[in-house]
Amino acid sequence: MALFSIDRKKCRRDGICAAACPAQIIVHADRKSFPTLRTGGEEFCINCGHCVAVCPHGAFTLTSMPPASCETVMPDLLPDAPALKHLLLVRRSIRRYKKTPVSRKLLAELIDVARYAPTGSNKQQVHWTVISKPLQVRRMGAMVIDFIKIMLPLTPDEAQVRRFQRIVDAWDQGRDRITRDAPHLVVAHSPSDLSFPAADCAIALTYLELYAYAKGLGTCWAGYFTGAANLHEPLIRELGLPAGHQCFGAVMLGYPQYRYHRIPKRNAAQVVWR
Ligand SMILES: Cc1cc2nc3c(=O)[nH]c(=O)nc-3n(C[C@H](O)[C@H](O)[C@H](O)COP(=O)(O)O)c2cc1C
Repeated sequence: MALFSIDRKKCRRDGICAAACPAQIIVHADRKSFPTLRTGGEEFCINCGHCVAVCPHGAFTLTSMPPASCETVMPDLLPDAPALKHLLLVRRSIRRYKKTPVSRKLLAELIDVARYAPTGSNKQQVHWTVISKPLQVRRMGAMVIDFIKIMLPLTPDEAQVRRFQRIVDAWDQGRDRITRDAPHLVVAHSPSDLSFPAADCAIALTYLELYAYAKGLGTCWAGYFTGAANLHEPLIRELGLPAGHQCFGAVMLGYPQYRYHRIPKRNAAQVVWR
């Protein structure tokens, strides 16, 4: 089946589709010609859909993605720059959660939005494991503590040892600094042999976090959990990721107990302008 087709009644032969194609597999010779596929181009198409999305006339159909199947861009719905900037600045890492569970519908909506995060070569291979049983979240937290206890005597760096020890001490005193008594843990994982699985997962988690904030939820990266998730056998078994997958990040998630009223200050950007 052909990779794409052109509606010759709609196409204005402006070559925008060819200009936008990241793989440069669409040939547009001149204003008199319709776009065609470069010989052997099929194997280089990453199915990003830019050709379909960028055509002002709806003339371009990727066989896998007809224009009618794609949502229309709605400029009126876009936040203006101050609104978006404010969202980016007010998002906080939330470490105190209400016990109220987040509905499956809302969790699915967050993940649905995260699908639109960029991925290396448009691979779209970010997978999710969502743990919604607080007891299981806690059990995994306990496994991370077990892992830290194993690592403690092996860690020569004094500062590191003291930080880990404080986390273990807190746990032993009933304070969970691993998963923060969160009702949910959202784990992002990918096949580890992709080009950029860590970046893919981190960006997808960031989309998820920002949209979660907009929906009145709180999140916080689970760094200790992520550090142990691919190394500690009992946790690897409990997580049960598909073969060949690694966890590249996870966030705790739930309804926040407290609201923040100020934006904490941050260091000045460190930039070299050239
Ligand atoms: C990769 C990464 C790992 C993190 N791991 C943890 C963690 O294990 N526990 C925690 O409480 N916060 C964790 N955080 C949250 C940071 O401490 C937090 O982003 C930072 O203090 C700034 O606060 P803010 O996110 O509210 O701006 C992590 C953040 C990142 C980006």
